[in-house]
Amino acid sequence: MKKIVVVLMAIVMALAACTSMQEGKELFEKKCVKCHALEKSLSATKDLAGWEKTTKAMIRYSDGRITEKDAKKIAKYLAGRK
Ligand code: HEC
Repeated sequence: MKKIVVVLMAIVMALAACTSMQEGKELFEKKCVKCHALEKSLSATKDLAGWEKTTKAMIRYSDGRITEKDAKKIAKYLAGRK
């Protein structure tokens, strides 16, 4: 019985991680294409800290169209992409 609970928890957690990656991807495709091609970002490989720094810089350029929250999700998506 305990095993089933553990397996279910794992599935729920995997789904939640997937959803937030998907959200980051959508935000990225919507918000980061305004000023330069997505390829510019996709060709760069950075770790999470690097992407948080970059997306923070883009917040400043974007004049409020990208929020801190968006940037965090986008940074997570970009760092987690393989
Ligand atoms: C308001 C316009 C604008 C938006 C929106 C924007 N960028 Fe940029 N981005 C720029 C400009 C201008 C540069 C070139 C200046 C520079 O390199 O700092 C740049 C450069 C970059 C670079 C190359 C420089 C580096 O630090 O690696 C990356 C990667 C990047 N942007 C990613 C993104 C991502 C991811 C988003 C979405 C969160 C985004 N950009 C949204 C204007 C924008």
